[in-house]
Formats: sequence, C-alpha cells, structure tokens
Amino acid sequence: MTMQFDVLVIGAGPGGYIAAIRAAQLGFSVACCEFNPYDSSDGQPRLGGTCLNAGCIPLKALVASSEAYENVSLNYAAHGIDADCVSIDIARMQQRKDDIVTKMTSGIQFLFRKNKITLLKGRASFAGRTEEGVRVTIRGKSDQEEVIAKNVIIATGSKPREIPNVKVDNVSICDNEGALKFTEAPKKLGVIGAGVIGLELGSVWRRLGAEVTVLEVMPSFLASADESISREASKIFQKQGLHIKLGVRIGQAKVTDSGVTVAYTDDQGAEHLLECDKLIVSVGRVPNTEQLDLEKVGLQTDERGFIPVNAHCATAAPGIYAIGDVVRGPMLAHKAEDEGVMVAELLAGQKPHVNYESMPWVIYTTPEIAWVGKTEQQLRSEGRDYKAGQCPFSANGRALGLGDAQGFIKMLADAKTDELLGVHIIGADASDLIAEASLAMEFRAASEDIARTCHPHPSLSEVMREAALAIDKRALNI
Ligand code: FAD
Ligand code: NAI
Repeated sequence: MTMQFDVLVIGAGPGGYIAAIRAAQLGFSVACCEFNPYDSSDGQPRLGGTCLNAGCIPLKALVASSEAYENVSLNYAAHGIDADCVSIDIARMQQRKDDIVTKMTSGIQFLFRKNKITLLKGRASFAGRTEEGVRVTIRGKSDQEEVIAKNVIIATGSKPREIPNVKVDNVSICDNEGALKFTEAPKKLGVIGAGVIGLELGSVWRRLGAEVTVLEVMPSFLASADESISREASKIFQKQGLHIKLGVRIGQAKVTDSGVTVAYTDDQGAEHLLECDKLIVSVGRVPNTEQLDLEKVGLQTDERGFIPVNAHCATAAPGIYAIGDVVRGPMLAHKAEDEGVMVAELLAGQKPHVNYESMPWVIYTTPEIAWVGKTEQQLRSEGRDYKAGQCPFSANGRALGLGDAQGFIKMLADAKTDELLGVHIIGADASDLIAEASLAMEFRAASEDIARTCHPHPSLSEVMREAALAIDKRALNI
C-alpha cells in the first residue's frame, strides 16, 4: 500500500526531526524516515542523527566528565581542596554519556508521538514523481514501503571525510564514532586535523591523561577564527600539553601490534613517524547523498557532493528541499535546526528566513571559544572601517572567583554607524555568553546598545559590556 503525506522528511537528525515537528505543528501530515546506522538495542531507529548519537551531545558529556576530572586533580587545589589518588572509571564515564544519549534520542520518539509524526524505519531513495507528489521508496531491514509526499525535505546529514592511506577501522584508527567510545585513555594519542573535532576530542583525552599530538595540514592554526583568538588558543592549548604540528603532510598510517604509526612530513620537509596507541582522523565531513537516487527527481550534487539549494533551501526540483549538513553553509546542529524550521514555515505560506550572519560558532575546548559575525581579518580584507574593543576575563571578579580567568572578549563595530560586526570570545562559558552577541546582531544592535545595557554583577557577562565600552575607550574596569 502506498502511504501519502503532505511532508516527508528524510533523516531524523537535528535538521530533520525539528523540521518534522515544526511541519506537524503547522497542521501538515508528516512522516520522518530514518535508517539509523547507530547501535540500537531495542530494534528501533535511534533518532537524533550525528548530533545526538555520535556528535554534539556525547562529545559534550565527555568534555564535562574530563573537565571535572582535571579540576579535581589539578585546579581545585587553588581553592584549598586537596584530593589524593584521584582516579577516573572510564567505563562509568562512558555509561553516563550513553545514558544521556539514550534519554535524548528516546525524547525524540516521544516528541514524534506527541506531534503525530509517522516514523518510517528504513533508507529512503527517490523513485520519481506522480501527479500527487514525489515518490519515495523506504527500504527497511526486510520490507519496502512506498510513500508519496507533496513535499520532501532531505536532511540526510554528513559522514567523516576519509584521506588516502589512513584506513579507519574504529578500533585503532578512529573517526568521531570510535573516538567517543575508547574504553581507556590512550597513553599516546595522535589526531589528524586541528579542526573542531580534533581539538575537542584531543582535549578530552588529554585531560584524562593522554599525550596528544595533533597533525594539521594548514600552516596556520584555527584559520576560521579571529586571528587574535587563534593566537591565544594556540598558546593556551600548547601550555596545556597539546602538541600541535602545523603544515604537515600525512603519509601512511599503519596498525601495528602495539598501536598505530603515522608517517608525516613536517613544514620543513623532514620525515617523521608518530607512534601512538590510537589515532583519531578528523579532517572534515562530507554530505550523505549516496543511494538517494537524486537523478530520479532530476537532481544532482555539486562538485563537493552537496545538494544545491537557494537561500530558502529549495532544490531545483519542485517540492523538494534540502537542509543541514547536506547543503552549503556551516555543518552545525543549530544551523540544520533553523533551516528545518524555515522550510516548514515556508511550506505553510509564512515568510521565514535564516540569518547566517548572526549564527554563532562554538568550540568546546578549555577555555571555550565562540564567535559570531566577522573576524578582524575578514573586515580588513573587505576594506571596512571598524573599531575594536577588548576586555580580558582577568579583570572580572566573577571569573577570578571561579578560578577561570583566561582569555578575553573582543568586539568589532562599524567605525561610523557603530553597528556590531563581530564578537569573539575565548574564555569560560563562551558558549553561553555568545548568545547575547547573536541576539544583538540579529537586532542589528550597535556596540553602544550592549554598553548601555545593565548586566548582572558579578557575572562573566560584564566582560561583554566592558568590551563594548572599550570600543569607545571608556571601559571602566581595565
Ligand atoms: P545528521 O545529524 O547527520 O542526521 C542525518 C540523519 O539522516 C542521520 O540520522 C542518518 O542516519 C539519516 N539518513 C541519512 N541518509 C538517509 C536515508 N537515505 N534515509 C533515511 N535516513 C537517512 N554541531 C554543533 O552545532 N555543535 C556541536 O557541538 C557539534 N559537535 C559535533 C561533534 C562531533 C563529533 C560531530 C561529528 C559533529 C558535531 N556537530 C556539532 C555537527 C552536528 O552534529 C551536525 O551539524 C548536525 O548533526 C547536522 O544535522 P543534520 O540533521 O543535517 O544531519
Ligand atoms: P574541521 O573542518 O573543523 O577541521 C578539519 C581540519 O583538518 C582542518 O583544520 C583541516 O585543515 C585539517 N585537514 C584536512 N585534511 C587534512 C589532512 N590531509 N591532513 C591533516 N589535516 C587535514 O572538521 P572536523 O573537525 O572533522 O569537524 C567536522 C565538522 O563537524 C566541523 O566542520 C563542524 O562544523 C562540526 N563540528 C562542530 C562542533 C562544534 O560546533 N563545537 C564540534 C565538532 C564538529
């Protein structure tokens, strides 16, 4: 029997499940299809995609556990708290992480039931078109279903990029999935790629005792961040013991009896062999479009494998949209979610849009890094006249009280209009602090708006206000 829906969402990651919920709220009949490659003990697909199963949520659980361990072992001594023989039970830490993931993924099952969304279990591929809509085949483990939907939202996400001569087995040489499941802290950990995953996962296992070497092909560190933040981060991470080697070329990685070896050439052309117990490969991600049979609805991917879409995530095929990691733009869960909401509201005749300019970025290292808007180097290359203000966390009483006073906030504003152009943070709780800056940019606020807003005392958010005041050289506490 062929099932018919107003909206079929392919993929139940943060893009897909949020699109499905919003479409259901708006009165559409909605199905969401998920084949789910993640372990599932009850035979149900695990919803939530990369983010919940092998990305944001499990990684941040490990970040929290490893930070707690490092605080008790090292940092709490300054508070007068001495703890001898601190140990960590990695199995319990992993169980805690898995419990959080299970709670979150089953929460989506509940939300689907609440919003009367039909969950279809299987892998979707396009089968063509009829007068009633788009035909999609859903292949389950043992059966096959046919769906006709007036609108289809492709939210199939992404998977780790591979590099030649480094074969991931997720035992010794791991991508994010394997690296989130280590059963003990490796003594020596190699990481290929000093991007977001490399830094977050590398920091987790460093805090838990691994000697970590990060091999990065680019000659500069964290090139997408503001250069002053990258400089500060590089200094802090190296002081923490992360060995970061820039400008390398990776040769062959081999699994040996005792671990893994990686051959690489350094920026001077000298050849090296890194020996480690485990190797993490985190060199970017590529969109998931294989087996979708896009050509059956007249679509094809671009040269990098993404599905081409317009500003409203509409593809070239009528009634077919694509959102999240499978389309252009940053691969971020909140970007996927916002695009999902936008498409659902568009289908309901509303006039939504996603403002990519006010979309925040966060890297969950210690300290955290977060930013929104333009970097100083981008403004310079655009020839834009701007003013900058900066305030260190070391001037803030709350940061000192917390024992977490590294880093600073830098604010950039237009030299004439004072419109906020970018905010860059390296410091404690940057992931939460940046929300104020995103909101301000969404409202096209001036730096003076932040400077004139009363902030709670004592709080880290006062550093935001001081950075705004510093733009006009009237900071009060530095
Ligand atoms: P996905 O989450 O990848 O979901 C796609 C879903 O589609 C999957 O469940 C897949 O099984 C399903 N699917 C694929 N093909 C089909 C098909 N043919 N039929 C049916 N189902 C299909 N982002 C942040 O914003 N903050 C973070 O802190 C963060 N941390 C991360 C940490 C790691 C280790 C990783 C790997 C990523 C992280 N990300 C983070 C990125 C974030 O996870 C992704 O941007 C986000 O998950 C993308 O959402 P999506 O819905 O587009 O795709
Ligand atoms: P990334 O794009 O952040 O970093 C990849 C790094 O690998 C880059 O620095 C790149 O120059 C380097 N690289 C590429 N090829 C290489 C090679 N052959 N040898 C050595 N280095 C090489 O990608 P990453 O870390 O894999 O993460 C994927 C995506 O997941 C990110 O783009 C991000 O959007 C998302 N993510 C987001 C997080 C967050 O928001 N906090 C956390 C983790 C992931």
